[in-house]
Amino acid sequence: MKGFSSKIETVEEYYFSAKLREVSKMISEGKAVINLGIGSPDLAPDPKVIEAMKNTVDNTQSHGYQSYQGIPELRVSIANYYQKSYGVSLDPNTEILPLMGSKEGIMHLSMTFLNPGDEVLIPNPGYPTYASVTKLLEASPVYYSLDLHKNGRPNLEELESRDLSKVKLMWINYPHMPTGAKGSRIILEELVAFAKKHQIVLLHDNPYSHILTEEPLSILSIPGAKDVAMELNSLSKTFNMPGWRIGMLVGRADWLQKVLKVKSNMDSGMFLGLQKGAITALNLGQSWFDDLQELYGNRRKLVWKLADKLGLSYDQNSAGMFVWCKVPEGKTADEIVDHLLYEHHIFITPGRIFGPAGENHVRISLCMPEFKILEAFHRIKTSS
Ligand SMILES: Cc1ncc(COP(=O)(O)O)c(C=O)c1O
Repeated sequence: MKGFSSKIETVEEYYFSAKLREVSKMISEGKAVINLGIGSPDLAPDPKVIEAMKNTVDNTQSHGYQSYQGIPELRVSIANYYQKSYGVSLDPNTEILPLMGSKEGIMHLSMTFLNPGDEVLIPNPGYPTYASVTKLLEASPVYYSLDLHKNGRPNLEELESRDLSKVKLMWINYPHMPTGAKGSRIILEELVAFAKKHQIVLLHDNPYSHILTEEPLSILSIPGAKDVAMELNSLSKTFNMPGWRIGMLVGRADWLQKVLKVKSNMDSGMFLGLQKGAITALNLGQSWFDDLQELYGNRRKLVWKLADKLGLSYDQNSAGMFVWCKVPEGKTADEIVDHLLYEHHIFITPGRIFGPAGENHVRISLCMPEFKILEAFHRIKTSS
């Protein structure tokens, strides 16, 4: 054995991969941990989605390999969903690639575009996978900050003052995780112009567009965006299907073909039952989205109360599945996280795992029923 790839030295095991082992151990020791750490929807998909999956399982013809591009009916459903949700027209034959979740798309896109030494603009704080995949491919993350008083607008003036000649990709993500910054049509327009000017490929990661937003936004609804931008989307959060692993990449046909070249060498088509379930989910009516808004809105009010009790501050003008909180002067985020976990058995996430700008922040998930959030609230009340 002559050692491991030096690439793995560039990354750490994913925070939740390690931390959830510890949380599971605590639970196996009889500690009733309330998990307000991870953004995994706790509710089931719509019963019709489950029914569609079940019906497929019973069919003996359903178990073979599937098309690398998903069945046509799935791509048509994605096209209809994009039209209905965002007013974006997509060609189901050329502009849509179903994925096993959007996380894998981050790797596929990065492998499609990056060479060692290329630079990638990444939000700080931001979803950790953008930077780790960049590093695994021997490219360099270049972090940019977001102005949280301006719906998370990147500081484009500061970026313009840098040498951008090596920058090939820019990751953007609105509603932004972890901060909940909403973004806006104007910000997306500015970003499209910026990407055009500097010949940067703009990659919008868009899994939270239906969670506590007034208007779901797609980068592809911006005039001219199709020339420079692609979008990842996901059924994980919108349809309570994170474990199913279904997402999509949409955008320019010629770029999508290159991504397919990479992806088809690494995995195969998704199980038919998953695709049938996804089709049913994508065709759900408006009441599904209205219910989601109400559910997360009610939970968020309780999480705000919890945050108040802990002396944390937060911005009520936010979207997505988390409340992003600043810790009070004189305390560190790790102190708060550890105190909650070990003294009260409540798990929340330290902001630092999303980048240096996440220091002194914590992220609280809305993926717990109201009674559990209330229980967390009372645990703190009774024992601190
Ligand atoms: C910003 C962001 N992008 C992508 C993902 C991955 O989602 P999935 O792979 O389940 O589609 C997540 C999941 O938490 C996320 O927060």
